[in-house]
Amino acid sequence: MLAADPSTNPPLRTLAGARGIGIGAAVAPGPLANDPAYRATLAREMNMIVAENCMKLHQIQPRQGQYDFAGADALAAFAASNNMRLRGHTLVWHQSAPGWLKDRQWSRAELLNVLSQHIATVVGRYKGRVCCWDVVNEALDDKTPGLRTSLWHDVIGPDYLDHAFRFAHAADPRAKLFYNDYGTEGLNRKSDEQYAMLKAMLARGVPVHGVGFQCHFVFDSYPAPETLVSNMNRFADLGLETQITELDLRISTPVTPEKLERQARAYGEIFRAALEARNCTAVLTWGLTDKYSWVPAFFKGFDAGLLFDKDYAPKPAHDAVHQALSIDADLAVPPGSRGAGPKL
Ligand code: G3I
Repeated sequence: MLAADPSTNPPLRTLAGARGIGIGAAVAPGPLANDPAYRATLAREMNMIVAENCMKLHQIQPRQGQYDFAGADALAAFAASNNMRLRGHTLVWHQSAPGWLKDRQWSRAELLNVLSQHIATVVGRYKGRVCCWDVVNEALDDKTPGLRTSLWHDVIGPDYLDHAFRFAHAADPRAKLFYNDYGTEGLNRKSDEQYAMLKAMLARGVPVHGVGFQCHFVFDSYPAPETLVSNMNRFADLGLETQITELDLRISTPVTPEKLERQARAYGEIFRAALEARNCTAVLTWGLTDKYSWVPAFFKGFDAGLLFDKDYAPKPAHDAVHQALSIDADLAVPPGSRGAGPKL
């Protein structure tokens, strides 16, 4: 394993910066406040962070018109003091619907007003401090073509996405506005639909600037790297930035050294795909350390999906990412030519 000595062994953020790509992790306010190793590892290795939960509507607006900015403010302050970019996740998500929102009947006009107020307030507060917003998360249905059923969709109609992006753009015209989803990383029906949806939004003049591919995969089962590249490139051809926004590669328990090595190869392949894709501006893992990952609670019999273990030791996956970011080969994409390039 690699020692974490920045003088002899550049941390990931240094290597990523040299390749013109952001590297980050999803972050929670609890460990940020209480776990010094968490803060130190993030600051050393990452040049971006994303809010895992604390910017979701149910957390940031737990009662109508009453906002709780404590967690998000802490992330913004940490990002600023460590020269990191901050991603905002997420303004509109069907799963983030607190009681006050879901337990009553809304007219279309009322709900559009709720959407507009929420976005203006949250995006406005972090104007100039959040580089990219996941404006809408997971709007596409998994099983049937089209948008999934949700309060937003059912009451406002399918144009709720257009409205959300327009409200966000009005609140911070310089923030990059992303559509974020899972199951669209490869070439498949859902990614074709996502492509058609974003192309149509762009044709309507909707201010959408990027697309996030979540990439929650099993360590030995994920789309072929060349498929990831082709898929990202077709979105780049629409003029969109692409980002890998929630990468983790969960391992079936028991976690063995062999599985950790296989996971490392997968991480290396996915990072190389991101570097090869024409306009991929960042890769973020969904958490920093296996200590706080969402995986064991949500997938019984899986664990250890991230780059650092529960004691913050870099795993083989970290070393593979380090190597992928270090390779001296001709750069398919010159640093600085991706999107606006990361601000370090
Ligand atoms: O904070 C409470 C704690 O007080 C309580 O004791 C505990 C008991 O269940 O729950 C804690 O809240 C949990 C929270 O995570 C913080 O750990 C919620 O129950 C749980 O539902 C919540 O899950 C989050 C999930 O989104 C739903 O919001 C995960 O952390 C988070 O990783 C996950 O993230 C999503 C992305 O936003 C979108 N893409 C998929 C990704 C993974 O599901």
